[in-house]
Amino acid sequence: MSGICAGRVAIVTGAGRGLGRTHALELARQGAHVVVNDLGGATDGTGSDAGAARLVVDEIVAAGGKAVANTDDVADWQGAKRLVDQAIGEFGGLDVLVNNAGILRDQTIASMTEENWDAVIRVHLRGTAGPTHFAAEYWRARAKDSGRPLRARLINTTSASGIYGNFGQSNYGAAKAGIAAFTLIAATELGRYGVTANAVAPAAFTRLTEAVMPVDYAAGLGPEQVSPLVAWLASTESDTVTGRVFDVGGGRIGVAEAWRLGPEVTKQDLWDAADLGRVIPDLVAKAAPNVDMSGRPAAG
Ligand SMILES: NC(=O)c1ccc[n+]([C@@H]2O[C@H](COP(=O)([O-])OP(=O)(O)OC[C@H]3O[C@@H](n4cnc5c(N)ncnc54)[C@H](O)[C@@H]3O)[C@@H](O)[C@H]2O)c1
Repeated sequence: MSGICAGRVAIVTGAGRGLGRTHALELARQGAHVVVNDLGGATDGTGSDAGAARLVVDEIVAAGGKAVANTDDVADWQGAKRLVDQAIGEFGGLDVLVNNAGILRDQTIASMTEENWDAVIRVHLRGTAGPTHFAAEYWRARAKDSGRPLRARLINTTSASGIYGNFGQSNYGAAKAGIAAFTLIAATELGRYGVTANAVAPAAFTRLTEAVMPVDYAAGLGPEQVSPLVAWLASTESDTVTGRVFDVGGGRIGVAEAWRLGPEVTKQDLWDAADLGRVIPDLVAKAAPNVDMSGRPAAG
């Protein structure tokens, strides 16, 4: 198939449903050969079903595209290796890794169980780090062999919860903030091989958000509206864009700006804690306010 990703080989994790599915379909429509990964579990990460990945592969093939299924758990280090090896084995290489798989186990910090903390951190952070590690190892070797930049792509999935903060999602938000930081670091490390690294913070009506999204709001937020940006980032057209986080949903695409140093005060000798009451409130008043879940300055 022709398109801006013609002939590129892409892995999409968690591509059996929701955003991953529409990313895989759009990448294939744009000409990519896609490894559709999905463990097929419930929203809390329990269970598995090989049918989820298979159905999306069938959809892609029926539309004239190329795809294969993978049902590994992305948070399993050896599973991540098998996934990357499968792309190279089946399609002869790897150009694009989209880390998208995710689960939710919302609880307030006071109620949080160790199991719910670990499960969410594991799927999001290990599930991003493992596939990226094996892809990066492959890309490093390829760049050394070929002696020229690869034009490969890492596209991670963060969340408004991680970059702006959301009540009741300390496990998920901490993992997603970690993924945003991981993306910036990956951009600095992989740039030398010609690999860009960016992240999307999507808003879409999927089974993960159906319980929390008001129906009228959800109507304008199809997961397929996020996928054109993912396909563009996956293409060779996005060479100059790296280390960025995009806040994307409905028809809107925004750039989320990173933590940056705001107003500062310096003293040559040791600060006296008792004096800081005359310093810190003024400093905070001069700083840009924190934002709400829309990414815009919080009211009041
Ligand atoms: N929907 C939104 O508005 C929204 C907002 C912010 C971030 N996100 C993120 O986008 C991503 C996709 O979410 P979605 O809304 O499409 O949810 P979804 O539940 O529809 O899809 C997630 C998919 O990931 C798969 N998965 C889970 N754990 C896996 C594992 N260990 N290995 C392989 N596959 C696994 C699931 O089986 C599922 O098919 C997630 O990372 C989510 O946190 C979604």
